[in-house]
Amino acid sequence: MSTIQKLMSTAKAMIAESKGLLAMDESTPTCNKRFEKLGIPQTEEARRSYREIILTTHGLNESISGVILTDETIRQSKRDGTSFLKIIADAGIIPGIKVDAGAKELAAHPGEKLTEGLDGLRERLQEYSQMGARFAKWRAVIAIGKGIPSRGCIDANACLLALYSSLCQEAGLVPIVEPEVLMDGDHSMDKCLEVTEEVLQTVFNQLYVQKVKLEGIILKPNMILPGLACTKQAAINEVADATVECLLRVVPAAVPGIAFLSGGQSSELASAHLNAMNTRFKSRLPWGLAFSFARAIQQPALEIWKGKEVNLLSAQRALYHWAKCNRNARLGDLA
Ligand code: 13P
Repeated sequence: MSTIQKLMSTAKAMIAESKGLLAMDESTPTCNKRFEKLGIPQTEEARRSYREIILTTHGLNESISGVILTDETIRQSKRDGTSFLKIIADAGIIPGIKVDAGAKELAAHPGEKLTEGLDGLRERLQEYSQMGARFAKWRAVIAIGKGIPSRGCIDANACLLALYSSLCQEAGLVPIVEPEVLMDGDHSMDKCLEVTEEVLQTVFNQLYVQKVKLEGIILKPNMILPGLACTKQAAINEVADATVECLLRVVPAAVPGIAFLSGGQSSELASAHLNAMNTRFKSRLPWGLAFSFARAIQQPALEIWKGKEVNLLSAQRALYHWAKCNRNARLGDLA
């Protein structure tokens, strides 16, 4: 099989008709912050136990096509010694890996960030590929505020996303291209639409410049939403319509799939928005619309678990439930 055929077949499996991705790739600081709020110890063992709970949830593979791991998690094992990678493979789930090194302050651009991680990336991708990873993720963040985002921030992030993507494809890994326009702030939905359209347009230009094969990527965008502090929140169908309108303008039909991030929406709203998009537009879209949620699938389970063994089964039930809701939303079938 040629490299492009391999990439296309992986991307197709990631975006399978009734499934989506589970992002379980919170960095250690992010994981620690979420654990701290719930009184869970901020240790490697607590993170390992939590990831074991996720990966041993019975029936996860009914809704989840792929999981995004971190460098720590991909090397970990269950308490009984079985490696996480074996559990994932046995469940028929595709393992992926977050490879960016996080968003750092962008020089000369107060309030803006640039995602780093290109140094040594070719070698790291080779190692992950040998371990069994079949796709990768890189997240860029774009904030909306007074005078931002700037052209400098959008261009620099788009350029690095494209360079990362071409390295992934060289290594036979499907790049998840994630330019996240953040929900923080009081901006309107129209502002989010304007910025997201500009960001995606720039990202696709850069992917073209870097000769990335669009058939072998998955786009992971934000939905079009008003800022969290905006006084005028939007109806579910308004979000669905604006998001699809934006994507139709800028995402080429060659892209096999779009898997949204949840970005701080509640679990209920994230599923409802995805469901509305699929119910209203699915038959008319060139790409599949799926999910690649972290918080919207995991947060309820984490809040139930609280680091306590006795809560394990209830936490797994919640995880299964939210994964299943998004399976239904992927099908446009959410009750
Ligand atoms: P959320 O769904 O919590 O936004 O996370 C998705 C993700 O992978 C962020 O990089």
